[in-house]
Amino acid sequence: VSLTLADWDVRLRSVFGLSLLSHPARLRDGIDAACKELAVDEAELLARVDRRDRSALGAVARGVTIGETYFFREPQQIDVVRTQLLPAALERSSHTPVVMLSAGCSSGEEAYTLATLARELLGADASNRVRVLGFDVNERSLATARRAVYRPWSLRGVPREVQDRWFDKVEDGVRVVPQVRALVTFERRNLVDPTDALPAGTADIILCRNVLIYLDDASVNAALQMLATALRPSGSLILGSAEGALLTAAGLGAQDAGGVWVHTKGAPVAPYVIPSTPPPATARIAPTRTSAAPPRRRAPVAAPLEREAKQAPAPAEEETAARCVERGFAVLASSPEDAAKEVRRALLLDRTLASAHVLAASVALSQGQLEAARRSLRHARRHLAEVAPCSIVAGAGGATAAELTAYCDRLARAAKDAGR
Ligand SMILES: C[S@@+](CC[C@H](N)C(=O)[O-])C[C@H]1O[C@@H](n2cnc3c(N)ncnc32)[C@H](O)[C@@H]1O
Repeated sequence: VSLTLADWDVRLRSVFGLSLLSHPARLRDGIDAACKELAVDEAELLARVDRRDRSALGAVARGVTIGETYFFREPQQIDVVRTQLLPAALERSSHTPVVMLSAGCSSGEEAYTLATLARELLGADASNRVRVLGFDVNERSLATARRAVYRPWSLRGVPREVQDRWFDKVEDGVRVVPQVRALVTFERRNLVDPTDALPAGTADIILCRNVLIYLDDASVNAALQMLATALRPSGSLILGSAEGALLTAAGLGAQDAGGVWVHTKGAPVAPYVIPSTPPPATARIAPTRTSAAPPRRRAPVAAPLEREAKQAPAPAEEETAARCVERGFAVLASSPEDAAKEVRRALLLDRTLASAHVLAASVALSQGQLEAARRSLRHARRHLAEVAPCSIVAGAGGATAAELTAYCDRLARAAKDAGR
């Protein structure tokens, strides 16, 4: 039997909601790794997946999922949890523990980040008042999460004093301190499987970041409905900064909380406005001239961590091009013309900067120039294909190559819809 990636795509969509045809190498390598792990050929693996054999599903999930993550990722969002959402949730639930969820937690960095916020705010009382649950379909990642031992790469950008407070040195890296570990549990759950759905009205704060970009449209909707149902009244849901528009598409409004888009259960549904921070305007919505961008506001305590969170020093020219792109994304919604100027500057400095081509595509889309948008997307994909999927792309607000590629898919769909 000769199997194609399209055969696998059908299965992965139906089991995990994953749409990975835009990451063909990842898909191919992941399936090969699963065959090797189970010592079966591809046809046998496929037959087992079709029978929903647990070990086959586990091996495939381990092979194909992309688990890039790190501590205090997107510090602006983390600060909104620290300064607004967690204090409000604690005030609402004086009798029951506040439950925070990391949906698609990968190796646990996001869940432990949430737990440090609770510990910072409440000290020892955190163990009475807060629970954090991380879930994922990749059981190897969950095993890493439970072990809680991390290498420096997971702590990139985390200031030394923060590391000293929340991590103990161990032989093979650093381990999250017991007081933080004690707040967190990990489970295998599939975001798009109704039998894995969380009980209704049980979570106060949900982070589901950089997961939905890998799912197909129907699965995004199913996952968001499940997460929204899991929220307690006035509970909050935050997606990755490139994913906010998915909330509106699923009929769940979002509010601007200090520059971060938050869905609040029970709040009136207000339209999502194109974000002013990169990664850019989301696509499903090809930005229009009339849409207003929210003023760029930063949560005050974010600053030191955010500064630290910048990537490793890059050649000066590339950094400058990346800065042009970041400025361009910031003004995209309010002034596509200014964003276009930043694109031109960035490309003059570095024609190979993928984020500049993504910004160019967003600008072109916003101006209805569909052919130019498609051309820019082709350039972006070509440059993204040249780097490892988990590498951070300069100028894209901390997004990885895989995430930006998924974002290109959405822009391409927006261009297609706009052309109809
Ligand atoms: C890029 S990581 C994101 C980690 C973390 N949320 C962050 O933003 O740093 C995406 C994670 O989503 C998980 N995932 C993908 N599909 C899933 C599904 N259907 N149910 C649960 N987790 C899923 C993957 O296994 C992977 O660990």
